[in-house]
Amino acid sequence: MKFQALFGASAMTLAAALMASPASAASVSISCGAVGQELELCREAADAWAQKTGNEVVIVSTPNSTTERLALYQQLLAAGAGDIDVFQIDVIWPGILGSHFIDLAPYSGGVEKEHFPSIIENNTVDGQLVAMPWFTDAGVLYYRADLLEKYGESVPQTWDEMTEIAKRVQDSERGEGNTGMWGFVFQGKAYEGLTCDALEWIDAYGGGTIVNGEGDVTVNNENALAALKLAGSWVGNIAPEGVLNYAEEEARGVFQSGNAVFMRNWPYAWALGNSEDSPVKGKIGVAALPKGGSDGKHTGTLGGWQLAVSKYSANPEVAADLVMYLTSYDEQKRRAVKGAYNPTIAALYEDKQVLEANPFFGELYDTFVNAVARPSRVTGTAYNQVSNEFWNETHAVLSGTKSPEDALSDLESSLKRMSRRGW
Ligand code: GLC
Repeated sequence: MKFQALFGASAMTLAAALMASPASAASVSISCGAVGQELELCREAADAWAQKTGNEVVIVSTPNSTTERLALYQQLLAAGAGDIDVFQIDVIWPGILGSHFIDLAPYSGGVEKEHFPSIIENNTVDGQLVAMPWFTDAGVLYYRADLLEKYGESVPQTWDEMTEIAKRVQDSERGEGNTGMWGFVFQGKAYEGLTCDALEWIDAYGGGTIVNGEGDVTVNNENALAALKLAGSWVGNIAPEGVLNYAEEEARGVFQSGNAVFMRNWPYAWALGNSEDSPVKGKIGVAALPKGGSDGKHTGTLGGWQLAVSKYSANPEVAADLVMYLTSYDEQKRRAVKGAYNPTIAALYEDKQVLEANPFFGELYDTFVNAVARPSRVTGTAYNQVSNEFWNETHAVLSGTKSPEDALSDLESSLKRMSRRGW
């Protein structure tokens, strides 16, 4: 009271600022992704944290392709560079990059218990929590609800049905002068995104996860063959040739501009597809990806991103504080409502505002919690090479340069060779 009376309001503001800003205000850098609204959301939250703590944050943006981003991170970390304090890392990277990150457990205050246990387990390497979950992902099927209604079609339950409906609606729309219409867009470029899509096709048919939990190469089987045969029929038929070079954002571009009936993508495309200036606003629906035949299963590949602090950071404690802020309940809620980024905190799937903004978070809850994981844990540091072989062989099938039979048997040989060297 006395202080207030003596110095008035402006002195109080100064006192508050002094309290908020520790004597040793630091500058930390964070590399966040830029797919969809990622960069904007990251910047807003980092600024809010900087304001709150008196520290400074520098945002470093990185390539959209997870494959290119991994190569860049590997270079920086192998050189022990301290340029980036906080890394946004893919769910498949803790095994590959974990040794370069600090243990976050001492900074978490036990909050990891509120996150999905499977992701915490995934992010724990040699007993150390090398990254905090930021958002999770699973592949889903986007559809044009207005077009399905117009042609009396329903949401496809199997990949065969999807193929037929895509073709019928595409051809009818073209017949009505909508010549740019395609049936289906997805991630067909030779990179990690194609691994995610193709794993979904194969798992839907009961064809396993390329390499199983014991480390055995299982990919060359009848069910995987059925999946790749069907996928091999799409390009030029229901999907544009260009899909062979599409990542997430290219597929979204086509779907969002109204030129595709179906799209495979991650949840983030929902918020953008329904944004004010989106031509398909209010016309789209989201469903679980189709099953591989009537006795197949609905499945989606597990994706998602974590935040990790570099061992080479000059300010690891401050960087860890930023990570805990960005991965907190409130911030995950803001990102879910504004950007459709799936929280990793189970309680947020019961939050009214989160569900209002993204009804499918509730409807497809099972898809999110049962998403199929890529074999990154069992193959460890070899995972990127395993995936590289898989996406290249799949790409050859999609582009028609290899038969699905040859692709699967070549893949089996190269993966077995790799496994003999040990993973
Ligand atoms: C999404 C997923 C990530 C995946 C990537 C592939 O960003 O969250 O796990 O590796 O897509 O493109």
